Amino acid sequence: MNALSISGGKPLSGSVRVQGAKNSVLPILAATILTGEPAVIRNCPNLLDVEYTLRILRHLGCGAERDRDGNVAVSAAGMTGIGIPDSLMRKMRSSVIFMGSILSRAGEAVLSRPGGCDLGARPIDLHLEALRQMGAEIREEGGNILCKAARLTGCEIALKIPSVGATENIILAAAKAKGVTRVVNAAREPEIEDLQAFLNAMGGRVSGAGSPIVTVEGVETLRGAVHSVIPDRIAAATLLSAAAAAGGDVLLRDVRPNDVAAVLTALGEAGCSIGAEGASSVRIRSSRRPKPMGFIQTAPHPGFPTDAQPVAMAVACVADGMTVFRETMFEHRYNHVSELIRMGARIDVTERTAVIHGVPRLSGATVAATDLRSGAALAVAALAADGVSEVSGLEHIDRGYDTLEDTLSSLGADVRRVTAH
Ligand code: EPZ
Repeated sequence: MNALSISGGKPLSGSVRVQGAKNSVLPILAATILTGEPAVIRNCPNLLDVEYTLRILRHLGCGAERDRDGNVAVSAAGMTGIGIPDSLMRKMRSSVIFMGSILSRAGEAVLSRPGGCDLGARPIDLHLEALRQMGAEIREEGGNILCKAARLTGCEIALKIPSVGATENIILAAAKAKGVTRVVNAAREPEIEDLQAFLNAMGGRVSGAGSPIVTVEGVETLRGAVHSVIPDRIAAATLLSAAAAAGGDVLLRDVRPNDVAAVLTALGEAGCSIGAEGASSVRIRSSRRPKPMGFIQTAPHPGFPTDAQPVAMAVACVADGMTVFRETMFEHRYNHVSELIRMGARIDVTERTAVIHGVPRLSGATVAATDLRSGAALAVAALAADGVSEVSGLEHIDRGYDTLEDTLSSLGADVRRVTAH
């Protein structure tokens, strides 16, 4: 088992490029099977979740290769499979995004319930209900979800929650469906816009992404395309939080400032000096102990992202006062709290509310990541702590961060990948 060994207490400085977005690349790779022509996806981060997705594509009979420059080439011409084995479904939540695209391509799909970070109940009722509305017959048998649809038909689908995954699944199913599909109360996350951009480059007719109504006019055929994935806003939020907690002067390159606006506002509250430098860079400077950030409530985009709540909490742990978080998206998204407390943090959780009384210094400790963003929060806290921390559970961090130790080391942090004790 691998861990990060982090010797904290050093300010960060320098300039670093933000990786491509995990949550964009996964649905985009699922979209590549909507055509038999080759597709090339650029700016693909080197992540376990991308590797699992490539395994799914190969299992379906597609060619899927990643080169050293972060380009992934997919050829779905020879796709023969309609199923994803349970072992791959359990690796990550976004495996379910293949439901819409396999169904569209093959007329049937056999999946099981997806795994992913343990954040509490993560139902897929909205995905199944939407595909049924589009004409799919879906039944569950022996742990499998069996879906059939000779040709999906467009319709209006009103989501009761603006689910990111359900919005993506519907768009993928609708791209080649008969007629027009309208998603009302669609998720507005930037990753939906990126999926729209890729599908339109393939010859699709998708509009409205980024707004609550997405319209998809089904087309007969889609062609191959080359597409570059947008920067990862949560990886950016993690690096910004690291600079805020540990102090320093960091320039993030290849970031879309608007995508991280809610995080920048919170870190501005924390007393960091933040400036956009050009259209795709953000500089953050933090020379004193962070100030408390008031009340942070997670919400769908453009609200404060649930995925950035853990790393922002690590900043609050060393702030000069009290910060209150309210997590609205997932029932168990405080997995990092007990580990932060081991490092000396003062946190009280009541149901979905966490009250953090900042302490002047955290102290290095042996802590365990149990999900992706919890792991990131522990790394951020360790950078700000006195002494050495060992963050185990690196396999969770590797699902979403492209060699985090190299990124942080390039900013002067003392971080190494080690074998956990
Ligand atoms: C996506 O998950 C992201 N994953 C998550 O990122 C992120 O936390 C989440 O969106 C919210 O922003 C990917 O894009 C691969 P949802 P997703 O469907 O699509 C409820 C990370 O750390 N819901 O928008 O699974 C659900 O329980 C990960 O990178 C239903 O009730 O999230 C939740 O409360 C973790 N029924 C809310 O909607 C459904 O059928 C939002 O979930 C679907 C969702």
